[in-house]
Amino acid sequence: MTGKIVLNRRIIPDAHFYEMIIYAPAAAKRAMAGQFIMIKCGGDTALRRPISICVADGPTLRICYEVRGKGTAYMTDMPEGGTLDFIGPIGNGFHYKPNRRALLVGGGIGIYPLISIGVKYKKAVSALLGFRSASLIHYIDVFKSYGIPADVITDDGSSGRRGFVTELLRESLQKGEGDMVYTCGPVQMMAAVAAICEQFGVECEVSMEERMGCGVGACTACVCRTLFTEEGVQRETYKRVCIDGPVFDAREIKWK
Ligand SMILES: Cc1cc2nc3c(=O)[nH]c(=O)nc-3n(C[C@H](O)[C@H](O)[C@H](O)COP(=O)(O)OP(=O)(O)OC[C@H]3O[C@@H](n4cnc5c(N)ncnc54)[C@H](O)[C@@H]3O)c2cc1C
Ligand code: FES
Repeated sequence: MTGKIVLNRRIIPDAHFYEMIIYAPAAAKRAMAGQFIMIKCGGDTALRRPISICVADGPTLRICYEVRGKGTAYMTDMPEGGTLDFIGPIGNGFHYKPNRRALLVGGGIGIYPLISIGVKYKKAVSALLGFRSASLIHYIDVFKSYGIPADVITDDGSSGRRGFVTELLRESLQKGEGDMVYTCGPVQMMAAVAAICEQFGVECEVSMEERMGCGVGACTACVCRTLFTEEGVQRETYKRVCIDGPVFDAREIKWK
């Protein structure tokens, strides 16, 4: 599938974070919150790279990416007006739970896929976002433009409050501010979020990130360890993040 690149620009002055808007009406119509696309990056990157759909707006898809290596570096050179070659939308996304109040817990590049599930909750939603430092805080205005208020915390305290986003989550749950949690970010953060939700008896969905090969369920490069119960006994199995996920019920994941 292809789409036309409408915009491809850096969003943080001194760091390699970019947003891209792609005109792709058929994909945008099908896209569900929490799904991703596999992008052909070019050069000598044989494998496509997975990037979450931040939000589908009418005929366009918005994605955001941090430059980590060759593939994402190639993406920065893709010209506006040019063509993006991608597969997707792929995967099982977040589930909307009517009549709940949602808390979106995101860290770093994990903040992006949370927007599209957040908008479904209209006013019954708030975001708790963690960044390493004040200079990396971004996209708060975009969350707000979709009607999602956001509280921010930084690891080093450079934005005011110092600490991890899990502290904000604990406080919100103590105040009874949410009864459905969606999270995406570093795995340690998501494991901690899952543990807090378990403690408060609140349902939590996590969007897992693993390195991918094919992105369509064929190569098993992306497996993560999951739990299931059979005849009263808890057992472990592997699931593919690309097609069984990327979103899972937090209780299903074997974190350690
Ligand atoms: C379902 C899914 C959704 C994603 N959504 C986004 C997104 O919205 N925005 C975004 O910026 N990134 C996202 N990523 C991560 C992104 O796919 C990788 O950063 C990208 O593939 C790196 O490619 P590269 O060629 O630039 O770097 P590479 O040269 O392939 O790798 C550079 C470094 O990044 C590490 N790395 C590569 N892929 C991953 C991964 N999947 N998880 C952890 N570490 C990795 C490598 O180990 C290496 O250290 C997502 C990943 C998955 C699985
Ligand atoms: S990336 Fe190939 S099975 Fe998931």
